[in-house]
Amino acid sequence: MKNNLSNIKKAIKYLNKNECVGIPTETVYGLAANAYSSIATAKIFKLKKRPKKNPLIVHYFDLKMLEKDCKINDIFLRLYKEYSPGPISYILKIKKKSLISKNVTNNKNTLAVRFPSHKLTRNLLKQLNYPLAAPSANISTKISPVSKKDVKEEFGKKLNMILDGGQSKIGVESTIISLINKPKVLRLGGIPKHQIKKYLKFNLAYQKKSKIKSPGQEKIHYSPHIKLRLNIKNPNKNEAFILIKKRKKMNTNYFYLSKKNNLKEAAKNLYKTLRLIKNKKFKSIAVEKIPNKGFGEVINDRLKRASNFK
Ligand code: TXA
Ligand code: MG
Repeated sequence: MKNNLSNIKKAIKYLNKNECVGIPTETVYGLAANAYSSIATAKIFKLKKRPKKNPLIVHYFDLKMLEKDCKINDIFLRLYKEYSPGPISYILKIKKKSLISKNVTNNKNTLAVRFPSHKLTRNLLKQLNYPLAAPSANISTKISPVSKKDVKEEFGKKLNMILDGGQSKIGVESTIISLINKPKVLRLGGIPKHQIKKYLKFNLAYQKKSKIKSPGQEKIHYSPHIKLRLNIKNPNKNEAFILIKKRKKMNTNYFYLSKKNNLKEAAKNLYKTLRLIKNKKFKSIAVEKIPNKGFGEVINDRLKRASNFK
């Protein structure tokens, strides 16, 4: 804990100097910077090699902080009460007097916001007088990081500091829900869509393609940059084979996402497994058919985009 406190202090120093810091969240690690600063947020785009038109998610400690920047509505409050802090992001209208840098929104009048539940990052946010813009801490189109080591692998010495919060518990990005007009899900993620639907008690649309061209909606994303084939029963001899559940007989090229068909556990292990396979230098990946329900839907969404790499 003592160590954590001094690391948080160090992180604040870097952030106050408009530097980027790697931060742990329950979904994936983020590449964070002061969302009110154009200098700081420009550095995020540069480090990630992210197209400028892709807006960033901004991370807040609580509603009080959020109210400075966004217009709040009833459905948002209902969802916030149930799911935040946690793995869900909301698209809201931005207030005219908001100090959020135009880099973050790409000049649009909407803002993606999130309240991460990871203790270390909440502790950090509580001590800042600005929110943190933080996309996933990976180079654009590549695999999202779920540990400090993963972030280091992405940016090496270009990033001065990464807070170590252990392995991300959810392991896939937050669910994004737009509350601008009729509520709709824009990205599947840490809270399954059917759960939100059940809670809200009305039909919730899922819009795969957003008008905003965003990394989460680009064709190739979440990719180890290795050829990847889906719904495979029999892999080739030298191909990495991803299984949904552990088999009695595991060959050296077999990798399982969960011990027993648990889709939540499988989602948690997805990016970790893809990164492991990449580091083992496999030239191609085959994936067993994954049930398309609950967290299986999220896994299939990410793998589908990764499979567009040729
Ligand atoms: O779990 C997460 O959400 C992680 C952690 C670090 O918080 N962050 C994350 O950020 O996944 P990123 O930048 O990798 O994905 C954010 C997605 C992008 O697809 C972006 O286009 C979309 O959110 N987005 C941001 N602002 C938006 C807006 N105003 N309207 C629609 N989509 C937006
Ligand atoms: Mg991302």
